[in-house]
This record gives sequence, C-alpha cells and structure tokens, in this order.
Amino acid sequence: MILGVDYYPEHWPEERWETDARMMKSAGLDVVRIAEFAWSKIEPNPDVYDFGWLDRSIQLLSEAGLQVILGTPTAAPPAWLARGHPDTLPVDEHGRRREFGGRRHYCANSIEMQERTRRVVSAMAKHYGKRVEIIGWQIDNEFGGGRTARCFCPNCEKQFRIWLKDHYGSLEALNDAWGTVFWSQTYSDWIEINPPRQAAEQPNPSQVLDYYRFSSDSWAAYQQIQVDLLRELCDSRQFVTHNFMGLFHDLDYHKLAAPLDFATWDSYPSGHLDRWRPLVYPPDSTLSPVEPAYAYDVGEPVITQMGHDLTRGLKQAPFWVMEQQCGQINWGAYNPGIRPGTVRLWSWHAVASGASGIVYFRWRACLYAQEQYHSGLLHHDASPDVGYEDLLLLSQEKTLLDEISRQPFESPVALVLDYNDLWAIQIQPHRQNFGYLRHLFVFYQALTRLGINVDIVSPQADFKGYKLLISPTALLGDSTLATRFMEYSDQGGLLLLGVRSGFNTPSKIVVDQPLPGSFRDLAGVAIKSWHSLPPGIGYTLGSDLQGLSGQATIWAEALGPDNTAQTLVTYRSGPFSGMTAISERPLGWGRVYYCGFYPDNVQALGLLRYLVNRAGIPTIPRLHESTIAIRRGPYTILLNFSDYPHIVELPGRSVTVNPRDVQVVRSDFLR
Ligand code: GAL
Ligand code: ZN
Repeated sequence: MILGVDYYPEHWPEERWETDARMMKSAGLDVVRIAEFAWSKIEPNPDVYDFGWLDRSIQLLSEAGLQVILGTPTAAPPAWLARGHPDTLPVDEHGRRREFGGRRHYCANSIEMQERTRRVVSAMAKHYGKRVEIIGWQIDNEFGGGRTARCFCPNCEKQFRIWLKDHYGSLEALNDAWGTVFWSQTYSDWIEINPPRQAAEQPNPSQVLDYYRFSSDSWAAYQQIQVDLLRELCDSRQFVTHNFMGLFHDLDYHKLAAPLDFATWDSYPSGHLDRWRPLVYPPDSTLSPVEPAYAYDVGEPVITQMGHDLTRGLKQAPFWVMEQQCGQINWGAYNPGIRPGTVRLWSWHAVASGASGIVYFRWRACLYAQEQYHSGLLHHDASPDVGYEDLLLLSQEKTLLDEISRQPFESPVALVLDYNDLWAIQIQPHRQNFGYLRHLFVFYQALTRLGINVDIVSPQADFKGYKLLISPTALLGDSTLATRFMEYSDQGGLLLLGVRSGFNTPSKIVVDQPLPGSFRDLAGVAIKSWHSLPPGIGYTLGSDLQGLSGQATIWAEALGPDNTAQTLVTYRSGPFSGMTAISERPLGWGRVYYCGFYPDNVQALGLLRYLVNRAGIPTIPRLHESTIAIRRGPYTILLNFSDYPHIVELPGRSVTVNPRDVQVVRSDFLR
C-alpha cells in the first residue's frame, strides 16, 4: 500500500524544497508525482533542455526517502510551440481554434506536436529512465479533460479519412455502413467526407459515431508514441500509467488502458457529486434522492465507488488513485470545506476498492493562477491543512490498510460497459434522459445496496469467474459478443441483458432481423414492439417477485419468448398487456434473462435480489444508502458516509459504524 503526493516544486522557491521533502516523509508518504505540467521549465526553448532544477528536486526528495513518479509534460505544451505552430492548437466543432493560455491545448493528430512529444519524452526518458529514484511514469494528464477529446482541425480531417479508409476499405462499403443514400449524402470521393462539424439539421449518426471512435483512437495512438519511447528507453522496473477520470466517457478507456502497466484515476468526490449526478440520475424521475442521505462534504459515495470499480475494471486489476482530493477543490458548483475525518474516509474507501496506491492532490495550495483556491495537504502559508492531519491518522492505521490491500479483490458480479454503445445512445437517445450510464447505474446502485462487490468491465474482458454478468445496453452488440455471452452462460453463469440490446449494427444502422438481433437465440425471445415512454406514462407490471411490481417507465419492450424461454414478469396494462416483460431461459449450466424495461431503483433491487439469490451470492440486508460495504478476502469493510451512526446487520452480528467512519470486520461467512 503506497501513499504519495502530487507536488509542483516549480511553484515554490528552491530554498523550500528540502523542508517540503522532510515534511512529506514525516507525514508517512512514500512517493511524489512531479513534472506533468512542467514542459516550459524542462524545455524553455525548442531543443534546449534544462534538467538541473528537476535533478535537484528529485535528489532532495530521494534524500528524504521518497520515490518519484515522473509525469511526461505534454498536457501543457509551451508558448513557443503554440506560437511557432498554431496548427498544434485544437479546433472546436464550430471551427474556432482554441488558444494558448489554459492546458491540453493541442491536437493529438498534429505532426508537429507528435514530433515535439517524441523529443521531450525521449530527452526525459534518456535522462531519468535508468534512475532508481524514479519508480514510474504517468503519461500526459487526464486525456480528454476540459472538452479536448475531439478536435475538428484540418489535421484531424485528413486523418479521419485515412481512418475510414482503413476501416471500410472502399467508399461503397462506407456508404452502405452509414446509410448515406438517406438525404442524398452518398460520397463519391473520400475528400468529400469531413468531420461532423456543425451540420444543417443533424449530422449522420454513423458518421458521428465513427468520429467519436476515430478521436478516441487518435488519443490512443498519441499515447502509444509515449508508451513505445518509455518502454524502449527506460528500465523495465519503471511502470507506465495514465491518470483517467472515472465516469468521463469521451474516450474509450478500455483501449487507452490496454498498453499501460496499471490504471490510475483522479478521485474528487465533492466535485464529482455535482458533475456526475446528472450523468447517473434521470432528472425527470424520482430515482435521485431528494434529501441526500450522506454528509455534505463527502461527495456521493456510490458515485465515487463507481469511479473506483470502473477504473479497477479497466484492467481487471488493482489500480491507483493518482490524484486524491484532500481538501476543498476549486471547480465544483460548490466547493465545501472538508471536515476532519473525510480525507481518511475517502482513503479507506479507495483502498477497500482495490487501490494499491493513493497520491494526494496536491502538496501545498498554490498562490496563483487557475487553481489558487484549490487546497492541498498544506495551506497556502505552508501550515498543515485538514488533509495533512488526516494523513497522520492514516499512518497509524497503515498495518491494517496494508493487510486489506494485500487481499484479492473478488467480485461475483460484473457489469459490461462499452463506450461504443454509450456514444451511440448519446448520439440518438430516442428518449430524453435515456442515458447509457444512467441505465447502467440503476443496476450498479442496486448491487451496491446489497453489499456486493461489482466489476465494471469491457465486452472483451474475461467473464470467467463471475456468477452474474449484466449487460444493460448492448445496443451495437454483434454475434461475436453473443457468442462470448453464450459461452459464459453455457458454463454456468447467469446473464442479464437489458433493453435495446442488439438493435443496431456496429456502424449504427438498425439490424434487419427480428430484435434483439444477435441476441435473439441467446435470450430465446423476440421483441414484438418497443416503446419510448414519456413522463407520466407507465405500463403496469405483474409478477410474484418482491419489488418487481409498479410500472415500467422510460422504456418498455414487449417480449415474445420462444419455446426455450419462460416468463418471469408480465405486462398487466397498456398496449403490451399479457406480454412478457422479463424472460428467463436456461442455457447449458447457466441462464439468460432479458429485462424488457428500464427498471427504477426498487424494480432493479427486486430483480437483482432474485438473481443473486439464484447465483448463490451472499448479500448484506438493509444496508443504509450512505453506507458502503466492500469484501476483501476474509474482511468486510464498512464505510459510513453520513453524519449519523448506522447499524449494519451481518450474519450473526450487528456492527455499528460511526459517522464518517470505517469498520473492518472479519466475515468469512460472507465469502
Ligand atoms: C485534476 C487535474 C489536476 C488539477 C486537479 C484540480 O483533474 O488532473 O491537474 O487540475 O484536477 O482538482
Ligand atoms: Zn485536430
């Protein structure tokens, strides 16, 4: 279990560096991440490198007993590059160039930027690649942050055409795959195809989807330039990673994570509360708790949990939090001051969720510029802030943290997340507020309420070992995925498919077979009809299962089971009355379920309770919504995010968890 801090020596006078290093060590920290925005200090003029200051800083840190993670500085290209090569700057969908003055101001497809990247990364790797003080590298910083995932510049235009040629081979194939005969969009030359900038009326959804894919692939290719150089020039002991952003979804994180040694993410629970709540709760429903049950300064625990679980799922392996909020931030709608105990709680939450390293953002609050109101472990005046005090508490708990961290993270359930499906729904939701992540979250939240560990994984992940696999919206799912699901189920797994599965081809045109397309044989049902439901309209459900009543809202599909499948839940009112709402089909040693409506919280809980029972997965009953329970080996870690004590009923005993506190319980019986 590694604890560290994000540090910017370049923001402080050199005379201060030694004191900082000493204080870091005495606070129990092991590693320091530096340099990820220091390009103009490292290369003040083109091809003129200055490693002197960085060497001195690394030496002081190392003398104090700290190890170093180096950021490659490419998230902040220097002014000389923007000035000399304005074509390195990104262009938005309205054709406006985004100027120098913030960060992430570059196009991943700029040849000049790529060349400059090669040079600065090689210079750094040659200088530091064999040093024992350096334990690893963080490439760039938060790819896609600040709405920079998609650039619409002439470089990108050219590269998009090349990407399309590679992908489709011929214009004819592209025209077919996009359905360009519609509205007379047929292309007769590659040169006619542009990025989907502002179109009159709406752009072609297949074109937009491919642009999202192309943009994401562009970042993966850009990252690969750095990965290759670091692998070539550095000792293999030095790891290579990137800091992802949890629920951020403009890029395909599964592809970006693939070449890295492990994944890391930046966890800012209080900021994510207001940024991500709209992503996971439909605004026109009652799914979102009106009175939050959790304390005002902790963020929303289930959302933070989803960030951890998603990041762990990127490689189905332990991860790091590369930036852990440790006090107030500066970018939320509200930036509440953080009370003593909250940073400790967040840290425990991360470790329990499988983080094997936590790096706090940042060491000391900066006096100037964009983040001058952002806190650090130290106040602006260098006196300890609340996070520092919490860190001292955590150091005393290090033995237990280490013990938990050593336990394997085992999840009996996995949720499938496919960025292609997410983008496709985003481009054509067909119903306001039908969000891919929202639909996924309904199932996710129910599982966390049952106290079950969940992995959020890619459709290419290894499904073996999961007792229950949930694929909420495999909109573009094809026969390859259907076959993988079939094998999984055949070997004994329970599979739950959700609405809109198999509706579209991978290029996002509707399949010309009965729905759910590729999944029809697998699920043993045909969808006879599907309705997007406006607010206030619902079709009554009927079943003997607890919780599976009320009305289907948001989205409903009428299922017709074939002779391999049975009906679990029926529609009792509305145009689908008498037809199947949830089907169940035995397959090999396992079972396949199709949930034909978008469940609300209570319905999802009812359905999942039934499924986890069937799968033999132990649950924790009556877990309060502000309490998170995570299993690690023989331990259950209980975290209370509210201002009130909560009693958790575990088999044979009840445990009180104090407000904003954690309890670690041995619980072999829950395995
Ligand atoms: C992160 C970013 C950091 C810093 C931080 C402030 O998203 O990686 O560089 O800006 O936010 O909360
Ligand atoms: Zn571009």
